[in-house]
Amino acid sequence: MRMYDLIQKKRNGGILLPEEIHYMIQGYMTEEIPDYQMSAMLMAIYFQGMNEEETLNLTLEMAKSGDLLDLSSIEGIKVDKHSTGGVGDKTTLVLAPMVAAAGIPIAKMSGRGLGHTGGTIDKLESFPGFTTSLPEETFIHNVNSIKLAISGQTANLAPADKKLYALRDVTATVDQKSLIAASIMSKKLASGADAIVLDVKTGSGAFMKTKEEAVALAKTMVCIGNRAGRKTTAVISDMDQPLGYAVGNALEVKEAIETLKGNGPKDLTRLCIVLGSHMLFNAKAVDSLEKGEELMQQTLTEGIALKKLAELVHAQGGNEQAVYDTSLLPSAAIQEPVYASLDGCIEKIYTDEVGAASLLLGCGRTTKDSTIDLSAGLILHKKTGDSVKKGDIIAVLHGNDTSKIAAAKDRLLKAFILGRRASGTFPLIRGVVTE
Ligand code: URA
Repeated sequence: MRMYDLIQKKRNGGILLPEEIHYMIQGYMTEEIPDYQMSAMLMAIYFQGMNEEETLNLTLEMAKSGDLLDLSSIEGIKVDKHSTGGVGDKTTLVLAPMVAAAGIPIAKMSGRGLGHTGGTIDKLESFPGFTTSLPEETFIHNVNSIKLAISGQTANLAPADKKLYALRDVTATVDQKSLIAASIMSKKLASGADAIVLDVKTGSGAFMKTKEEAVALAKTMVCIGNRAGRKTTAVISDMDQPLGYAVGNALEVKEAIETLKGNGPKDLTRLCIVLGSHMLFNAKAVDSLEKGEELMQQTLTEGIALKKLAELVHAQGGNEQAVYDTSLLPSAAIQEPVYASLDGCIEKIYTDEVGAASLLLGCGRTTKDSTIDLSAGLILHKKTGDSVKKGDIIAVLHGNDTSKIAAAKDRLLKAFILGRRASGTFPLIRGVVTE
């Protein structure tokens, strides 16, 4: 077999056979296939696409390129959750303790990633002492004893994805549905859960800007998961404005704690209840989504999900007192309000610009080696449709550097469109894909 022939076949619209995909991924990992040939293949896939079979085979090969986590020593059906990401998305911090409090084992591997804020494991590092690099035995022991562990991805989890993603990033081939689906699902399959719930976001703060694109990606990922023998559901959720009010690592942890106390923003609370009910349903813990929702609500009302978060923090070496006294979490030296410039209402929020403002404050990474300011971020005081008077606070920026705050303020002002009439908001849950 020759990579040249495979590139030509795909360029001409052909279908790659399982053994050809195997050869391509294996050869790329052993460096027999160089970056320049793989780049040409990625561009051919970008234009010609891949069918369902090819996408599944690519995902399986990528998953098999490294360690496959064996969770068989954990009792019960293990359910994983993945979000395609958005601004203010602190769902895992709330949802994982809720589902674990309902008795379902959560063995979660999370990435750090690049972006406007850190990933879930960066956020969890806001708890003083918290460690996210757990040896496999500790990870499994913790899930067996408290039903919950959240660890950083091991270096050898789907290494083909790491290599391919780095290449896609510099060859303008990231935004291709089959490549995105294979990238996400290879990591999910290698992480070993029996069932998967995907939160696919759509809107101005999401990767998928339109609902149609989000549904198409969701269908591809659900099909891969189900065909790989993992019961998979995708919830399409709105990211046309930030989720909740807090954006930034420690600030999001504080909002997650308020949500676990039952005082959280309505959108975040509702999304966690809906995703949680699908997780319980896929784990066969309930026979209807309504029962799942009731059970999820109960974990908040009875305070058992909050207690579960404290158990998680303790089990991973952190100071669990910070769950009950959030003044122990990092906080920024400077808080700078941003004011409305006229009477009216918030017509629209360009959510990706809110993300860009938080990146300027130092909440996220621009390269994989950047350091994150866990205390930085912003709290929105107004969201789409809210009325404002000139001089009202629309947001408060938290930071430690006046020049970063000034740059973020300019950016945030551009994110808010003030006018006479709001353009309307989308429903939080925009669809569910099960097959
Ligand atoms: N997230 C991933 O893990 N991979 C992609 O390709 C896009 C988003």
